[in-house]
Amino acid sequence: MKIDGTPYRSVWVDPDDGWSVRIFDQTKLPWALDILRLTTLEQAAHAIRSMQVRGAPLIGAVAAYGVCLALRGDAAEAALRADAADAALERDGAMLAATRPTAVNLRWAIDRMLGVLRPLAPAERVAAAWAEAGRIADEDVAQCEAIGRHGVELIAAIAARTGRRVNVLTHCNAGWLATVDWGTALAPVYMAFERGIDMHVWVDETRPRNQGASLTAWELASHGVPHTVIADNAGGHLMQHGQVDLVIVGTDRVTRTGDVANKIGTYLKALAAHDNGVPFWIGLPSTTIDWTVADGVREIPIEERSGAEVTEITGRTADGRIETVRITPSEAANPAFDVTPARLVTGLITERGRCAASAEGLLSLFPERR
Ligand code: MRU
Repeated sequence: MKIDGTPYRSVWVDPDDGWSVRIFDQTKLPWALDILRLTTLEQAAHAIRSMQVRGAPLIGAVAAYGVCLALRGDAAEAALRADAADAALERDGAMLAATRPTAVNLRWAIDRMLGVLRPLAPAERVAAAWAEAGRIADEDVAQCEAIGRHGVELIAAIAARTGRRVNVLTHCNAGWLATVDWGTALAPVYMAFERGIDMHVWVDETRPRNQGASLTAWELASHGVPHTVIADNAGGHLMQHGQVDLVIVGTDRVTRTGDVANKIGTYLKALAAHDNGVPFWIGLPSTTIDWTVADGVREIPIEERSGAEVTEITGRTADGRIETVRITPSEAANPAFDVTPARLVTGLITERGRCAASAEGLLSLFPERR
């Protein structure tokens, strides 16, 4: 997507050296657009852990590039002995996989990289790794673009039926910053905007890290998409008063039965949508489906992050300084995700089309999983 008219992806290989990895430091947005250069496994792992990069598909892509950087670092070791190279590959993959627990794309991308690299001789692995990571990134872009095409029909249908502006509510950031490009939940929004559909987005601020207020709002503003940031608690009220036509959110892991793990607070929005008859859709690439899990509430690991993310808040002062202040003297708990049961989900928008949030629905689009 574009920033000030220039197209960007959220992760790319530096064209000057052909190997180092470039990302935006998302912890600095919306106040600064800092581009970081990753050159080591440790830097890639830190970027994921500290949420310089975040969002399930982007975490997967950066982990894939992290494997490339690890191999480059291990190259001297690999040249010595094949068994040492194999051990280093497994060790590095495990280290990256441990950076964040909930988004399944992380494990998926590392498994795919290691699956391609294991059978190769150590000397062949570095070039093969960059090629595979590039394919993972390109495929993510294609999948998100397809999610947009399948999801925009929902927005277009509401516009045609009502003949007025369509109000979409979204939670957290599932835009292009959370993927390699386009986004998941926001891909249909961007396509509706490009089609000229009159549309407005309610953006949940998404406490405690404010991905909505700081990232989704920034993305939408950069594209000129009409939007309004709301407190997380406002969505139910807006739904009761007919001001939300449709909810679209992303996800970090979907079970084979259609349960949806997403940023904390998503479940409450789904309850409110259900109570008010508002359609509640999920945008996801198939890389976010965990075919090994059936019961999302019991089986999906929920990341517990530092309580400081709740007790402190960062913002810009009137004179332009970025400051962090404490908002309570108490300690805080900070579960970062929740699980919305499939029964509260209207449907899933994938790169292969839309389906019910159920085992049968998913299998109708992915019959090879039967
Ligand atoms: O903790 P984050 O910011 O990495 O959370 C992940 C997300 O961006 C959201 O949960 C999002 O809605 C799903 S990822 C497209």
